Amino acid sequence: MFNRELFIRTLPTRTLGREFRYLPRTGSTNDQLRKLCMEETLPEGTLLLTDHQTEGRGRGKRRWYSGKEMNLTFSLLLSPQLSLEDSGLISLMCGVAVVDAIRAGGYFSAGLKWPNDILISGSKLGGILTERFKTENGPAVIVGIGINVNEDSLQMPGELRLTTASLFTATGEIWCRETLLAAILGAIESYDPTRPQEILKAWESYCLHVGKTIKFHHGSTMLRGLFEGLTNRGYAKILVSGQERIFSSGEIEFDDFNN
Ligand code: BTN
Repeated sequence: MFNRELFIRTLPTRTLGREFRYLPRTGSTNDQLRKLCMEETLPEGTLLLTDHQTEGRGRGKRRWYSGKEMNLTFSLLLSPQLSLEDSGLISLMCGVAVVDAIRAGGYFSAGLKWPNDILISGSKLGGILTERFKTENGPAVIVGIGINVNEDSLQMPGELRLTTASLFTATGEIWCRETLLAAILGAIESYDPTRPQEILKAWESYCLHVGKTIKFHHGSTMLRGLFEGLTNRGYAKILVSGQERIFSSGEIEFDDFNN
């Protein structure tokens, strides 16, 4: 079970995670935190964590699987002063913070795939689902983060064992979930998405496909192009047939023939 005392003892933040709600089991931490926001006024930085998420959601129609008491599945309540167009910066910031914290734990091979995936050797270690909604006190954002920490990804159900990574599988070591989470929240708090240059620079340095040819799925179209980097809003800049194109959403697939 998640050790609340250890987590609080190592938490380096001023606001993030100071209000901490723990549920041994829940459907989706994003859904549950949103429900709580409708029922009560929660402070900025409220953290909701579960040890057993049964209906985890991913981007689009994807689901997020996580084994019991082994990983990190949590959601954070934020209210950054960002326009809708700039709100993708929040997910980028959180992706950078997760990689910062994993590096601080001594593992340097995790990287990022645009927009929200954390990968090890092409397999998914973590994902981020950011959702905006309105409360009585104005617009709010829930950032849901799932990271495969101590689950043996080679034992995951079905196809997941082929596409999923975990810190345990990558390093052969059990990671302390409490100190890792404390470090992630510390890293998130160290960034300011309203001054995104530092986030964009760090994100590009962790990106696994800057300067590489990738396949890009946008709606029902698929194109191939060179991923050049990010705009100031965190959108993808892709060079397609000699022309730079900008995308605020889409899905990257690695093009093995060119990488
Ligand atoms: C993705 O990769 O598509 C995003 C995955 C996000 C999963 C996390 S786990 C905690 C939070 N609660 C959810 O239902 N989803 C997010």
